[in-house]
Amino acid sequence: MIYCFSGTGNSKWVAERIADELGDKVEMIPTLQVSDDKCIGIVTPTYAWGVPGPVADFLKAAKFSKDQYVYLVAVCGANCGILDKQAAKLLGHPIAAAISLALPNNCIQLGDCDTKEDAKRMFAAATPKLTNFIEKIKNGEKYSDVTRGFAPVVLTKVVHPMFMKFATSDKPFSVDAGKCVSCGACESRCPVGNIKLVDGKPTWNGNCAQCTACINGCPTQAIQYGKRSAGRVRYFFSEENL
Ligand SMILES: Cc1cc2nc3c(=O)[nH]c(=O)nc-3n(C[C@H](O)[C@H](O)[C@H](O)COP(=O)(O)O)c2cc1C
Repeated sequence: MIYCFSGTGNSKWVAERIADELGDKVEMIPTLQVSDDKCIGIVTPTYAWGVPGPVADFLKAAKFSKDQYVYLVAVCGANCGILDKQAAKLLGHPIAAAISLALPNNCIQLGDCDTKEDAKRMFAAATPKLTNFIEKIKNGEKYSDVTRGFAPVVLTKVVHPMFMKFATSDKPFSVDAGKCVSCGACESRCPVGNIKLVDGKPTWNGNCAQCTACINGCPTQAIQYGKRSAGRVRYFFSEENL
């Protein structure tokens, strides 16, 4: 079983590639399912050098036995600190094999996302690393190839908790009612069910993972984050980028 969380589709693409190769199944987080399969995968985006809130909740709740082989892919825009070690600690179980995989950056809260050209380049660069990792998993090997960034312990142990405490509010999200076409993409794409359409317009209900699926997935760019997201490059996974 492969457990996956994804906002803008990169991690979902990774999980599905692994599942195709292993003949395995993908279960999206949040989920209450805990599998007794011998081989367990966790595929997660990186948020401020740590795991997203829903992934942390899953890892804390999940119980795997000693003989289960657990591997992890930290999908990121560049680097992931010691996310793999954070995940192992939350899970209370060793992670036998881990890689980070740099795929297009979706963090529109901070600046431009990666462009379509960047996305193509990044998927092309990441594919051999992923293919190699899948071979390691098939053989049940111990393995680590994680790009951690500068001062990774500080990033994961100091910056990440600050992000969780101070930067996970959904209050900065807003909709330009004139641009919104009430298609409901934001509601259906939100992985944590935080968005409800009221009179055809999105409302955010206080349980946001900051995944950016709503803002990056809006077909008319009607959703904004604060005052500075207007005009920023947006990113959502598309097969065209492969
Ligand atoms: C709130 C937030 C924080 C992020 N923090 C990091 C980070 O610390 N390091 C990094 O390399 N990428 C970071 N990213 C980029 C994502 O990890 C990256 O774009 C990932 O591929 C998104 O996966 P998804 O498409 O499955 O949601 C962040 C993105 C968001 C939205």
